[in-house]
Amino acid sequence: MSHTWWRGAAIYQVYLRSFADGNGDGVGDLAGLRARLPYLKDLGIDAIWLNPWYPSPMADGGYDVADYRDIEPVFGTLAEAEKFIAEAHELDIKVIIDVVPNHSSTASAWFRRALTDRTARDRFWFRDEPNDWQSIFGGPAWTQVPDGQWYLHLFAPEQPDFNWANEEVHQEFEDVLRFWFDKGVDGVRIDSAALLFKSATAYEDLDEVHDVYRRWRRIADEYGDRILIGEVWLPDQERFTRYLRPDELHTAFNFDFLSCPWDPAELRRVIDLTLTTHAPVGAPPTWVLSNHDVTRPVTRYGRADTAFAHGGRLHGAPSDLELGYRRARAAALLAMALPGSLYVYQGEELGLPEVEDLPDELRQDPMYARSQGANPGRDGCRVPLPWAGEEPPFGFGGPHPWLPQPESWRKLTAEAQQADLGSMLNLYRTGLRLRRELLGDGSLSWLPLGDGVLAFIRSSGLICVTNLGPGPIPLPPGRTVLASGPMADGDLPPDTTVWLTSLE
Ligand code: GLC
Repeated sequence: MSHTWWRGAAIYQVYLRSFADGNGDGVGDLAGLRARLPYLKDLGIDAIWLNPWYPSPMADGGYDVADYRDIEPVFGTLAEAEKFIAEAHELDIKVIIDVVPNHSSTASAWFRRALTDRTARDRFWFRDEPNDWQSIFGGPAWTQVPDGQWYLHLFAPEQPDFNWANEEVHQEFEDVLRFWFDKGVDGVRIDSAALLFKSATAYEDLDEVHDVYRRWRRIADEYGDRILIGEVWLPDQERFTRYLRPDELHTAFNFDFLSCPWDPAELRRVIDLTLTTHAPVGAPPTWVLSNHDVTRPVTRYGRADTAFAHGGRLHGAPSDLELGYRRARAAALLAMALPGSLYVYQGEELGLPEVEDLPDELRQDPMYARSQGANPGRDGCRVPLPWAGEEPPFGFGGPHPWLPQPESWRKLTAEAQQADLGSMLNLYRTGLRLRRELLGDGSLSWLPLGDGVLAFIRSSGLICVTNLGPGPIPLPPGRTVLASGPMADGDLPPDTTVWLTSLE
């Protein structure tokens, strides 16, 4: 693989707790992941991104990191992580880990020291008086400690924010990057990347943050081919692409595409905007349909309102899952055909729906508790994967997965789908294989096939047509290489994508 592998890579997101459980304790782990590497190889991905795997009290699913240089014992050991990296590399799969620089854990050595020693507080945000900021998970963003001071946490109280005006914090994270790059990790996904700096009145996208990423980029470049990926949620695309200037991050997640409704004009607008804002900085766009924070596409696309919005997440709004499934298939082929890199969140390739009927007492996401139940939180997209068999735990591991799986997932196991040529799993496999063979680098040109249709041709000659209109449409000339659903008498039915190669 070349040094620019990441520009067009298909990256599979592993939410380790819910991927596969190797030791039977109900929680996914490195042993489970290592055993399933052949599955990921067959799927046809280029890289794995793992959510945080560090020691953590799990107040926010591991995004409360107690030690950035070790592995959470429930997941395995550092030695096992090293084996995993080596095994992935043998299969020609790159490894990307999550780095969480905005905040730490109240269980970290630095924070514990800060609690008992007032002179050790400058690495965090301690103040005598809180301001009126609210936590992103709900409730106040400040918590008082026994001696009367308050510390800032933009997320849960267990996640104290670092003070990036303190040089020690810079040194620490630069050392952490080197630690993992030395272990062979190929890249890092940077959590909450735009929030690091705070002023008296603001905490989003302050200009100083860019210096951090310039320093990180120099480190990544020293290693040659390591990459930095930003989690940057910003409404302003121009501000967003500043993070992607040639001496900063390599890529960042495209949340506009992820949140976009199933609507031809909106999708076209978002795709065009993405391409035009990325071009001047020379960074490849990314195409993301889901992740561990958002509603699963099958459920979202089956609703009357198909956009993703944080807040209530439209939880419980009626969803026609058959329609959602059809659209999720069409969306997958659309995303795969666009120029840039692609993210696949575990379970997306199985067409899993959001689990919306989890018993409240089992919900673990702090969003749920901190909003007093107003926000159901993100547990519904984090339910352990169904691998095989007729009943829960569907081959996930021990008898009691940390969140219960619906009985109806018997039809959605990887095993059941393997045997079914028309399954979502086989659509992803074939799509990912053809994407490698047929797409290559390069741009796209739109084809004018009507208002309800998104159609473009890539410079390699591949044509992608998605019908978002109400009725079937005639196919343009070409040889069909893959379709997300059956044709209707040779026409392309609604909510279906087809890939064609030109006839010349
Ligand atoms: C990011 C993560 C999310 C986490 C939050 C705080 O948005 O994706 O899961 O809760 O940061 O770390």
